[in-house]
Parts: sequence; structure tokens; C-alpha cells
Amino acid sequence: MSAILMNAFVYDGSRRLKQVRVGVPKIVSDEVLIKVEAASLNPVDWKAYALKALLRRFVAADSPLIPATDVAGEVVDVGAAVEKFRAGDKVVAHLNFKGGGLSEYAVAKEALTALRPEGVSAVQACGLPIAGETAYVALTKSAGIALDGSGPRKNILVTAASGGVGQYAVQLAKIGNHHVTATCGSRNLDLVKSLGADEVVDYRSPEGAALRSPSGKTYDAVIHCAAAVPWSIFERNLNDAGGIVVDLTPGPAAWLTYALKKLTSAKKRIVPMILFPKDDRELKILLTLMAEGKLKTIVDSIHPLDNAEEAWRKGIDGHATGKIIVQP
Ligand SMILES: NC(=O)c1ccc[n+]([C@@H]2O[C@H](COP(=O)([O-])OP(=O)(O)OC[C@H]3O[C@@H](n4cnc5c(N)ncnc54)[C@H](OP(=O)(O)O)[C@@H]3O)[C@@H](O)[C@H]2O)c1
Repeated sequence: MSAILMNAFVYDGSRRLKQVRVGVPKIVSDEVLIKVEAASLNPVDWKAYALKALLRRFVAADSPLIPATDVAGEVVDVGAAVEKFRAGDKVVAHLNFKGGGLSEYAVAKEALTALRPEGVSAVQACGLPIAGETAYVALTKSAGIALDGSGPRKNILVTAASGGVGQYAVQLAKIGNHHVTATCGSRNLDLVKSLGADEVVDYRSPEGAALRSPSGKTYDAVIHCAAAVPWSIFERNLNDAGGIVVDLTPGPAAWLTYALKKLTSAKKRIVPMILFPKDDRELKILLTLMAEGKLKTIVDSIHPLDNAEEAWRKGIDGHATGKIIVQP
């Protein structure tokens, strides 16, 4: 396959993209080659650009720097040690730090690839790897919330509920039968309500800026998907018996507060979280929920690969409603 050329987009040396023709990537023994049917963008794709550019000088310096980590498509080739997949399988994959999704073909580790159940489209599935998994891990592992109805009903706040991660966090929390307060912009209040949120607050209103629940609830958990908020605002909204903020956008202040609260064994805590998927466990759970009709991807927009630059700019603007998707 390596002699065949494909269309792809690479970082052009700044945060912009440049269209190129490059060789279809080669796989090693534990990898699958996927013909991409849909890829979704995440803020990490542009936020991590500088770090990726730096690391590429030392690791895989000869391979093109193609962004996008989340793809769905069809397996066209498998490495010698691959057992779970064969050519023709419809899959979804997390390409991890290497990226490669803004192209016609992408290479994924077998361990981070999952079969797409019948009835789950490539567009719906490709939203899941980073955004869906982050929402799932934040709720379950970081905040310790049961989503199978086995635990007590919790009060949960999801900030930026109209975004890629927030939309899944609201739906997953409701699958677990929890009470959900959500923040988003005024144009998305109805949409977020339709995802199941019990109360929705405009983040630009005084109540939204203060993260207050309209019904006066305090939160057992906050899944924080928006920009930094001072700890004092979180603290006054957390349950006195023990509330936790899972911070998906942690800056230095969040890390410092995390350390202080841990040292003092405080009941109200903040936990910075960064997703590092090791296997396909969460992806499979999310795909099953999707196949059962319990979870969906809100799609902001779909862009042809030739127009990936437009999708990229839209993502950087930071006002997507759901996922931005690119299709070869
Ligand atoms: N730690 C991790 O492992 C991890 C994983 C995934 C994502 N993240 C981070 O989590 C954040 C969210 O990611 P995402 O993919 O959901 O982003 P996204 O899709 O780009 O989020 C855009 C949405 O957020 C809304 N929004 C922006 N500021 C808001 C605020 N202060 N309050 C309420 N809503 C607000 C926007 O609404 P308007 O258009 O109305 O402004 C828009 O609908 C990003 O910073 C991302 O880097 C971290």
C-alpha cells in the first residue's frame, strides 16, 4: 500500500493546515489500516500542535504531521499479530497522540479499535473516542458515579454541555438516572434540555456565571468542560458532605488546589483529568449504548476532506454545537 498516494492535511508549520498527497501509511504487527469514512475534531488537535511538532523532531520525524485522533471507517489491512479484525470490518478507533485522521487512510492500534455495531454510522461513531470516552471516564472513574443504576442518585453539573464532551456527559449521566444541571449558550438551551438535562442555564447569565442550580441544588459532582473557573465558585456550589469537580481543562491553579485539597483531605475536591486510553473498553460500552439508541452524537457540521481547513477554523473558534466532522 505504501506506493499508493492519498489526500491528507498536515499542520503547515503554524496552526493552519495544508493539503498534501502523501503515501498511504504502513502498518506494523499490532496495527490496522483503516479507510477513513469519517473523522471528528477535538480541541486537543490544535492545542497540542506545538508539543506534537516538537516531539516529531525526535520521534517519527519522517512521517507527516496529520491531525485528528478520532476516526471511523473500514479495515483494509491488518498486521501479522492482529486477531480481532480483518479486512472489511467496520470500526471506530482512537489514533492516540500520533493522529492521522484528516486523510483517506489512517493507522490504528488494534487495542484502541472497536467494531462498529450494525446501525451505528461512521459519522455517529467517530465522535466517541476522545469526547465520549472523556465524558465516560470523568463520570465513572474520576467522579465515582455509577451509570448502571446501582448507586445513589447524584446531583451533577455539566459545564459547556453543548460541546463535544458535554453533550455525552449529559446523556450518560441521565442514562444513570442522575439529576443533571447543565450550562451552555442561550441558543443551545433547548438542545441541551432535549438531551435530558433537568435544568439548563445560560453561561452568560449571572446565575450561569455563578454555576448556580436554578432549583438551589448543590452538586455531588461537576464535570467541568469549560474554561477555568475560580475554585471559590465551585466550592460554594458543592455538596458539603463531599463534592468533586472533575476538571477537564486544568490550569496551574486547578493543579495547586488539587494538591492542597488532597493534602488536607478536604471533603470538597477538584481532580484534574487528562484522558489516556489504554484499551477499547470504554469505546465498546459507548458503542453498545449507541446501538441500543440510548446515546447519540450531536453533529455540529460535516465537511468534505477537501474543506478540512474550514472545519479546523470552526473548531478553533470554540463555538461548535456537538462534533465537527470531516469526511473523505
Ligand atoms: N482532559 C481531557 O482529557 C480532555 C478531553 C477532551 C476535551 N478536553 C477539553 O475540554 C474542553 C471541552 O472540549 P469539547 O470538545 O467539548 O469543546 P468544544 O466542543 O469546542 O466546546 C464548544 C462548546 O462549548 C460551549 N462553551 C464555551 N465556553 C463555555 C462556558 N464558559 N460555559 C458553557 N459553555 C461554553 C460553546 O458554546 P457557545 O458557542 O454558546 O459559546 C460551544 O457549544 C476543551 O477545553 C478540551 O480541550 C479535555
